[in-house]
Amino acid sequence: MLHSANPSAPPSKRIFAPTGGSTDPGHAVQYQAGALDKSDLHPTPTDQFHAWFQEALDAKVYQPETVTLATASLPDGKPSARIVFMKELDDRGFVIYSNWETSRKSKDVKSNPQAALTFWWREMERQVRVEGHVERLTSEESQVYYDTRIRGSRIGAWASPQSQVLEGREELEKRVEEVEKRFDGKDKIPVPDFWGGIRVVPEMVEFWQGYNMCPPETITSLQTSSAPSPNVSSIIPPTEISQKAYAHAASLLHSSILNHSIRLYLYTKTLAASKNSIYHTNPAKHDQLFVACLFHDIGTTETYNGPQRFEVEGADAAVAHLSQFGVSEGDKQQVWYTIALHTSNGIVERMGELPALMRKALAVEFSAGDWKNVEGIDVVVEYKAKLEMTYPRLDIEKVLGDAVTLQAVEKPEKAPSASWPGGLLRAYLEDPDWKGVNKGF
Ligand SMILES: Cc1cc2nc3c(=O)[nH]c(=O)nc-3n(C[C@H](O)[C@H](O)[C@H](O)COP(=O)(O)O)c2cc1C
Repeated sequence: MLHSANPSAPPSKRIFAPTGGSTDPGHAVQYQAGALDKSDLHPTPTDQFHAWFQEALDAKVYQPETVTLATASLPDGKPSARIVFMKELDDRGFVIYSNWETSRKSKDVKSNPQAALTFWWREMERQVRVEGHVERLTSEESQVYYDTRIRGSRIGAWASPQSQVLEGREELEKRVEEVEKRFDGKDKIPVPDFWGGIRVVPEMVEFWQGYNMCPPETITSLQTSSAPSPNVSSIIPPTEISQKAYAHAASLLHSSILNHSIRLYLYTKTLAASKNSIYHTNPAKHDQLFVACLFHDIGTTETYNGPQRFEVEGADAAVAHLSQFGVSEGDKQQVWYTIALHTSNGIVERMGELPALMRKALAVEFSAGDWKNVEGIDVVVEYKAKLEMTYPRLDIEKVLGDAVTLQAVEKPEKAPSASWPGGLLRAYLEDPDWKGVNKGF
């Protein structure tokens, strides 16, 4: 609810109805640069944006890449916005470079990988609004842009903890000196892990053109499709079952849980290959492995927030998906066990090949370091770090713990006491103000 100010003491107005420089008293500047006709639009939002950006450059708009980036943190939902430069546009989205460790925007994006961008090109009387989800560029991608920056900026990125208060100028100078020493004589400086690009992958782009109307308004919104990124499309099995499963999961899952599900799939697949499992040798079973991993946490989404435990809702959703494609009862049962019991240590391992494989992969995901002792897991060790660069963790423990807890708070029957959700709910109720990863995770 919006809080209203005390009406008995109206605040004195410091600015009231400004006319934006109009010399006509009481009348704001009119927008009349031109109408926007749907038939003039380019076929995709990216093409349309590209055309407008070029027109802005031609019209000598000052730094048309300047854009307001808005983010919001969870769970408090507080928004924040700042001016940044859009440095790249590709077919997936709009790229911005920044510090992703200490800045306010990094904290927002870690808890809530969604963002909005607003461009305003005054000379053209044009605004473009973009809303979408955020993905981190790989360090290889960020390195390409980083290498184009002058040495001072590259050193600066290493030295400056963005949005943190420094003791004084000397502290920054000292940090710069240390970094200079570290890279003395080296032309090639690696991009810091905490610095780089994010891409806002648009789900909505709106083009606004000022026109001779009051209020000025000619608005056209274009919805974008959410095709998987090139990284992802190369790993999805090339069948209708898996392609549709991915599209469904990606449209519902929190980005952090989606990345976790993709990593889980790649670990499970690698383990299956190393054990010469039937889930590797028989191509017909690849879809079952994929669906089990991509749907294993789908019960955390609003669409599948039914009365049962999230694991059971997810297992039922996977079986419903597989049923559309004539998968056998025995195969569906394996997928059901895999998902329904994936939080039941000591039981799931004995329910069959697929449940045991995915449980091992989960050990790699979640038991910081101890997993190295899990039998047969060494094949995955070497590529864990690399995989987490491509599909970042995005605070998965916190996101997943909070998602399951939130459902359980609203519907306690989803969290029986002797279950993983039950443990999360108990931990939450013991300390509801705790802001970190749920202590029962
Ligand atoms: C014209 C202009 C361009 C800017 N470009 C960037 C940018 O590309 N990346 C960036 O991290 N900050 C940029 N900044 C600084 C941000 O506005 C902001 O102060 C900084 O990123 C810290 O924001 P945060 O604490 O909200 O994360 C720019 C500021 C201005 C005025």
